[in-house]
Order: sequence, then structure tokens, then C-alpha cells
Amino acid sequence: MKVLFLTHSFNSLTQRLFAELTARGHEVSVEFDIADAVSEEAVALWQPDLILAPFLKRAIPASIWRHHLCWVVHPGIVGDRGPSALDWAIQEGENEWGVTVLQAEAEMDAGPIWATASFPMRRARKASLYRQEVTEASVTAVLSALERLKRGEKPTPLHEWPNARGRLRPLMKQADRAIDWQNDDMQTVLRKIDAADGFPGVADSLLGHACHLYDAWPETRLKGEPGAVIARRETALCRATVDGAVWIGHVKRAGGIKLPATVTFAREAAGVPELPLAGWWSADHATWQDIRYEEDGAVGFLHFDFYNGAMSTRQCERLREAFLWATARPTRVIVLMGGRDFWSNGIHLNLIEHAASPADESWANINAIDDLAEALIRCESHLTVAALSGNAGAGGCFLARACDEVWVRDGVVLNPHYKNMGNLFGSEFWTYLLPPRVGSEGAAAIMRHRLPMLAYAAVECGFYDAVLPAPTFGDEVARRAAALAQDFAARIAAKRARRAADEARKPLAAYRAEELAQMRRNFYGFDPSYHVARWHFVAKTPHSWTPRHLARHRM
Ligand code: COA
Repeated sequence: MKVLFLTHSFNSLTQRLFAELTARGHEVSVEFDIADAVSEEAVALWQPDLILAPFLKRAIPASIWRHHLCWVVHPGIVGDRGPSALDWAIQEGENEWGVTVLQAEAEMDAGPIWATASFPMRRARKASLYRQEVTEASVTAVLSALERLKRGEKPTPLHEWPNARGRLRPLMKQADRAIDWQNDDMQTVLRKIDAADGFPGVADSLLGHACHLYDAWPETRLKGEPGAVIARRETALCRATVDGAVWIGHVKRAGGIKLPATVTFAREAAGVPELPLAGWWSADHATWQDIRYEEDGAVGFLHFDFYNGAMSTRQCERLREAFLWATARPTRVIVLMGGRDFWSNGIHLNLIEHAASPADESWANINAIDDLAEALIRCESHLTVAALSGNAGAGGCFLARACDEVWVRDGVVLNPHYKNMGNLFGSEFWTYLLPPRVGSEGAAAIMRHRLPMLAYAAVECGFYDAVLPAPTFGDEVARRAAALAQDFAARIAAKRARRAADEARKPLAAYRAEELAQMRRNFYGFDPSYHVARWHFVAKTPHSWTPRHLARHRM
């Protein structure tokens, strides 16, 4: 089928559906919902059999749905309507939620139903549920809707749907989200911030300044005057509730960008007691720990849950330190687990934007991530594994490849390219790591290909090593890592020999110098594309046109 995606942006859910439908032989083109006339033009050019709206912020124009089959993917159960579906579901503590594929008609989200898929609710942030459960359910629902269409079936009107319990709910306002620090307990505060993460955040004030709050974590040991900021650690500030406390990782001030709380309030928080992590060992989840280590026999697991997968200079340095520390443990395999939603999205573009000199901070950050990649490549005491249970983008995809093995959860969306960020050349030793696995032409193709890649496609082309089933990912990683430890002697000897041969042929330092020479040009050169692209990305400026690599109908 010829399918046109009409979408607000090419977000992770849209990327996943795009890749799934393309892999099934459908011809998919994308148009951003910018203006009715532009969407009408896209429809006229592509002549689609189906228009799919995976992520829209307003209704499809009548001029389109009256004449074409249009499906809307709504992140809610049957009967649910309104723009804050997930926000309400989290805040009201729903036990089960779902995704519905509706036919677009006059009233938003009120058309007949093509398919639905449900999932048990997890206690998690909105953005996390969206990237995991909602995305999986959307794929299931869209594929079963396509099956129904193929069988010549018609959609079911809402009033004929048995036991539809969803209802129309308004836009959730900041008044509905407001935290009452004198009365709300820790769980209530967490639920309110979770329901608003990563957009729009909860409007509040911190250290005397109005801001929106994001990225909250429980703290059960520390106590203080409700509402008071009682400690700081790395990116986060700890704020007391009536019964415990929460760590607030990120905030956004009016007109500003989303930044770590300790960066935004560096001056104001200077007097707040610092409470560094006691070490890398995994704590008992009683506090916030962004880097944590666990061990099971001969296998060490290094978790690093950095907000949005963005890795700042300091986070790269700390992760390298934690990794080197782990290499001194009496283990054989180290698995880099990343975070649940993201493994890594490369250098931290928001902190770079915020820096006094974005070029200097870009340079520091790329060197820090390269130092980490180099530590992984040069590690000769352990076998290393990158286990991607979350998505990865740009430098994060190549950083994973610096490990000996890369295992990826089925359903993960990868964006292994740099070009979308103002034609960045990229580093993380991709020029060393890719050719032996995918060939020189394959490496060039991956870099040129500016589209998302599914896990199995990454393995098929030799970029990664294995796709593991989603429901048992953690167990399967542990099982395979233990098996790798059994095969240690032969594998580590082969690794040392390969590294020595590679080094003799061309030193790692030469790859790094060549890549960084290109990056220096990106950061400090005449062409400002990277700085412009980064600003648009960080400031989330609305799209005014659809990139040509997505809008195939305009090629
Ligand atoms: N630095 C800072 N923030 C980042 C980031 C980065 N490298 N990568 C992603 N984010 C943030 C986004 O701004 C967004 O923030 P929000 O919580 O305020 O909405 C959030 O992470 C999720 O990103 P989003 O773009 O909505 O996710 P996605 O799954 O739709 O898209 C990517 C994934 C990887 C395609 C996209 O995030 C991207 O292009 N990131 C930049 C990668 C990059 O160029 N890195 C630098 C070169 S190494």
C-alpha cells in the first residue's frame, strides 16, 4: 500500500511505525502537519491508499478525511478522547491502558474503531510509557487494523463496541498538575511529575524561581521541611515531601531550555549540602543513582540512566571512571546496560547550547565520549557487551559498537547517523569500528541513510550482533553474558590479537585524530550548520517544512 504519514513530527513512535510498515513492503512517505494546504498538496502528490496519523496535535482537515481513508493512532483505550490521554491515565492510577486506531471523522478521536491493543500500566513516566508500552501497542493495533482492511472489513462504531469505558477528557491544565508540598506525599508528587514528563512538566517554583519540573526519583532516607531543598547530587536537587523526598533531575525556566536542576540553579544551590554517591555499587533503590553497578558471578552490569540518553562531558567522564573501576573487579564480562528508555543519544546538546562557548563544550563533550569509547575498545581484561533495552541515536549507536558484542531488544529504534544534526561528521571511532563489520560501502551507507533502523535490520547488515525478545530481554542478556564468560579464554585471546594487529596496521590515535579534525571543522569552522541545527533541536522550534529524506512525495 501507499501510505502517507501525517504527523506533528518524526518522533520515536512515528519512526517505529515507519520502519515496521516499510519493512512489510508498504511505501511510506511523511508530511509534517504544518498547514492544511501543505497536507492537501502532499496527499495530491503521493496519492496514498491510506493516511496514517501517528502523532497529531490537531484534527485532520475535512478536505482530506472526507475523500481519503485516514486513521488516527490515539494513545488511549476505546472511547477515550482528548489531548491528555496518558497524563490522565497516569495521574488517576489506571491499571490497564491502551492504544486505539480510529477512522478520522469530524469530531476528534470519535470516529469508528479499526483496532485497539491494551497493556498493563507500569509505574513510570509518561515519556517512558509512550516509548515502550504505547509504541508496542500502536504497532500491534496498526498491523491488526491493516489486516482488517485487507479482509475487506469495516470499522466498528464506538456505540457498538462492547464495554467501552473510555470517555472524553479535557486538556490537563497546570492547575490539575499542581503539587501541594505541604500535603502531597512522595508517591503523589512522583505521579504528578511522571504524568507531565517530558512535556509539559509541572509548573512549580524551586529555590525561589518559577520553573517546570521533570525527571523525578524517589528518596526514602532523607527527610526535611516539606518543600525545602535538602541536598544536591550531580544533576539533581533533593526536595522534601511530607513523608520523604524526591530528587528533581531537570527543570525548565520560562523562555529557557530543559537543563539539569543543578546547572539551572548552580548559584542558588551552592549552599545546599552535597550528597555524593557512596560508590558505584547498586544501592537499594532508596535514593537516586544515575550510574550503578551490579554483579552476578563472572558478569558485571553497569547501568547508566541519563535523562533522555544525553551524555554530558561529566557524565561521560564518570561513566568511564565507573567502567575502569569495574574492570578491576574479578569478573570476565562487563555489560553496559544503559537506561530503560535510552541507551545513549550521544553528546548532550542542551548543555552544549547552554555553555558560554558551545563550540568549546562540543569539543570537550566529544573528547569525553571518545575517551569512554577508547576505554571500551582498549579493554583487554574483560569482554564487553552493550545491551540496548532502550533506543539509541547518533553517537550513542556507535559508542555501543565500541563493545565486543551489541545485543538489542526487539522493538528498539536506532538512528545510527549524524547528518541530521547539521551534517556532523561524527566520531566515537565509527571509522574504525564500522568497516570490519559492514564493509566500507556499508559504513558509508549507514552514514548516508538518515532514517531510523529497527533492531533486526541492524543485525541483518552486521552492524549489531543479536536481537533479543522484548519480554525476556534482561534474563536473556544475563544468560548470554554468563555463557560468554564460559568462553572467556578463547575470546579474550582473539580480541587481544585482533587489537594488536589493528594497532599495528593503523593506530587508534590516528582514527581519532582524523575524526576529530572533521569535528573541529563542524564546531569551529566557517559552516554554522551544526550550531543552527542544534539550536533548532534544543529550542524545539516548530517545523516549517518536511525534510526531503522523509517527504518522498516531494523528491
Ligand atoms: N542531547 C540532549 N537532549 C537530547 C539528545 C541529546 N543528544 N537526544 C535527545 N534529546 C532529548 C530531546 O530533546 C527530547 O527532549 P524532551 O524530553 O524535552 O522532549 C528527548 O530527548 C527525546 O528526544 P526525541 O527527539 O523526542 O526522541 P525521539 O525518540 O523522537 O528521537 C533521536 C530520537 C535520537 C532521533 C533524536 O532525539 C535526536 O536526533 N537526537 C540528537 C542526537 C544527536 O544528534 N546527538 C549529537 C551527536 S552525537
